[in-house]
Amino acid sequence: MEKIRLGIAGLGRAFSLMLPTFLGDARVQLVAACDPRETARAQFEADFDAPAYRDIDTLAQRPDIDAIYIASPHQFHAAHTRIAASHGKHVLVEKPMALSLAECDDMIDSCREANVHLIVGHCHSFDTPYLRTRELIASGAFGDVKMIHALNYTDYLYRPRRPEELKTDEGGGAVFSQAAHQVDIVRLLAGSRATRIRAVVGNWDAQRPTEGAYTATLWFENGAFATLSYNGYAHFDSDEWTGWIGEMGQARSADEYGAARRKLSQVVSREEEARLKAAGTYGGDAYTPASKTRGVRRHQHFGPLIVSCERADLRPMPDGIVVYGDERRERVELDAPAVARAEVIDELFAAVRGNAAALHDGAWARGTLEICLAMLRSSAEQRDVLIGEETSITRES
Ligand SMILES: NC(=O)c1ccc[n+]([C@@H]2O[C@H](COP(=O)([O-])OP(=O)(O)OC[C@H]3O[C@@H](n4cnc5c(N)ncnc54)[C@H](O)[C@@H]3O)[C@@H](O)[C@H]2O)c1
Repeated sequence: MEKIRLGIAGLGRAFSLMLPTFLGDARVQLVAACDPRETARAQFEADFDAPAYRDIDTLAQRPDIDAIYIASPHQFHAAHTRIAASHGKHVLVEKPMALSLAECDDMIDSCREANVHLIVGHCHSFDTPYLRTRELIASGAFGDVKMIHALNYTDYLYRPRRPEELKTDEGGGAVFSQAAHQVDIVRLLAGSRATRIRAVVGNWDAQRPTEGAYTATLWFENGAFATLSYNGYAHFDSDEWTGWIGEMGQARSADEYGAARRKLSQVVSREEEARLKAAGTYGGDAYTPASKTRGVRRHQHFGPLIVSCERADLRPMPDGIVVYGDERRERVELDAPAVARAEVIDELFAAVRGNAAALHDGAWARGTLEICLAMLRSSAEQRDVLIGEETSITRES
């Protein structure tokens, strides 16, 4: 097997969450990285005996890299994708794909012109319980999808943030960061094009002036409809309804209550908060590698979700899928993952080595961003927004 030789652009939190995958999956070899943070570069060079540069231009010039994982802040995704593609590198770019549909089009065009694959992830729609639920639906055994409810209550808004993460205009807030997961999962399960959305966002803390919550109703061409709700204000935590298995598949305890707010209450300025975020991530003083946390990991997830089909309700869980049929309730067991997020490498490897079309390609992820942008617009204008008709932009190329 020829490994994928991977370069990393951005050694922050997203990278630290993918690192156990890169370390655990034999199909990947980390070759080099780039990050403006000196401490992160030093850590990478020490950990991998491989070079870390200041900028992506130098990284992308290396002939021994097949693909670049772009895990820089959202506002750089488009430019970094263009640079990677222009050097003939396949691209795995973090969610959200970008901040505008024009940027998405530019990314899709650059990758198409360079004849490289563009995959957007990690996103929780890669999680096995959702992919298997999608297969169960596609088997036809339960009839058409009629309704989906997705809900997630977290401490999202009270984790340490960079200043732009608290400004919706600059890509901050729960819609760009969190709906990017939830919308992607719901679209995947609905199996149809979204046609209309009505949404309202909640912006309730003047100290953190971006939306920390939203709720939306989304309609699909096949007649299915969905509600998506998110609350990142760090009170109720919906992991309580998922057997205290956390988003990363880790065991959690109800005793952690209030930890994010307590930690943040010590911080006095935005600069200090950004430093705190950097300190807790790769190369920082307070960094704890995910591989060092103990306990059996289950599948990752994005909160409680139920899909109602004509003849059954399906509930994906971190360790199985419960099917509530007409006559009986059944459980499809899912083995604990050997390597977290290996599903991302499955898709990347199939694309790079097998030239297979990716499920989470640029066109797919553009569709998710289009819905996220429509969500913000529906809330601002207090009306239904028609997806496509009102949200598409004229392509310049
Ligand atoms: N899929 C997930 O579970 C997940 C989780 C967290 C973040 N993310 C995504 O990852 C991206 C980064 O977010 P984060 O939370 O890791 O932020 P972060 O601040 O922790 O990390 C970003 C890193 O990029 C570096 N960086 C900044 N400018 C750069 C540049 N020009 N070139 C290269 N590196 C640069 C920073 O120094 C930092 O190390 C975002 O798009 C976010 O949505 C995804």
